Amino acid sequence: MNPITGTPAKPTAPAQQTAEPSQPVLELRDAAVRVGGRTLWSGVDLQVQAGEFVAVLGPNGVGKSTMVKVLLGVLPAAAGEVRVLGERPGQVNQRVGYLPQRRNFDAGLRIRGLDVVRLGLDGDHWGIPLPGRGRRDRERVAEVVDLVGASAYAHRPIGQCSGGEQQRLLIAQALVRRPEVLLLDEPLDSLDLPNQSAVAALIGRICHQQGVAVVMVAHDVNPILHHLDRVVYLAEGGAVAGTPAEVITSETLTRLYGTPVEVLRTSDGRLVVVGQPEAPSTHGGHHAAG
Ligand SMILES: Nc1ncnc2c1ncn2[C@@H]1O[C@H](COP(=O)(O)OP(=O)(O)O)[C@@H](O)[C@H]1O
Ligand SMILES: [Mg+2]
Repeated sequence: MNPITGTPAKPTAPAQQTAEPSQPVLELRDAAVRVGGRTLWSGVDLQVQAGEFVAVLGPNGVGKSTMVKVLLGVLPAAAGEVRVLGERPGQVNQRVGYLPQRRNFDAGLRIRGLDVVRLGLDGDHWGIPLPGRGRRDRERVAEVVDLVGASAYAHRPIGQCSGGEQQRLLIAQALVRRPEVLLLDEPLDSLDLPNQSAVAALIGRICHQQGVAVVMVAHDVNPILHHLDRVVYLAEGGAVAGTPAEVITSETLTRLYGTPVEVLRTSDGRLVVVGQPEAPSTHGGHHAAG
């Protein structure tokens, strides 16, 4: 039994018992992806262990959400190897929590926060309660709502919750099945600064205290910088992974993007990346990175 998540120790299959204890939860080896006949990124090497927090960074349109889709098995890798919990992507999605890129709830939406969280449990059987599961499910929903600090407003219609409250409830939805991997696509987008740091700290706690491997797509690295173990910077055609200190430097990003990029550190420790190319062109003009 995991003392923090309450995840029961799973009877491991014989094949898994022989696995190295340090077997990565997520692994990409020389991975590449193609959409619409175009290679978005390639040469991605990344290993994520349990309890590690990794950010996927890069300009708009570079293929960050597409990387999440590859990890979910929605889209195949065009080259290389991808493994999720030792399996092909998509094989073990019930052990993966996923928060898609931001969608807004209509202010008039009457469904309660609690019900939104519960959808994370009901995904398999479309809200038809399974006999004998009602109480256990209610307790699990209450537990995870408490974990994300949403108890005070989870009974309200979600359309009447603030952006930060909605995002906490959606994180609870992604967590309700006690995933071992959490894939979060720009979860801090559209939150104000205090909410960005609060939600970043919450995700950092879930990751480091509960041993969940977190892969978070982010537009701005600053709110999560102090919680991160590793970053992957994607560029048109290339990618570089490593610790933030290794990757987020003028030298590394200049090499990756093939154009002068300057990384400045402000007096309060924030990183400012200047000169990073914007959305890669979709009609020619490709330049080799690196
Ligand atoms: N199924 C698809 N077919 C064709 N192009 C796609 C498909 N999915 C995404 N794209 C394109 O791939 C690029 C990367 O998209 P995305 O992964 O959403 O970028 P990011 O999340 O980094 O902003 C974009 O140019 C997008 O238009
Ligand atoms: Mg995206």
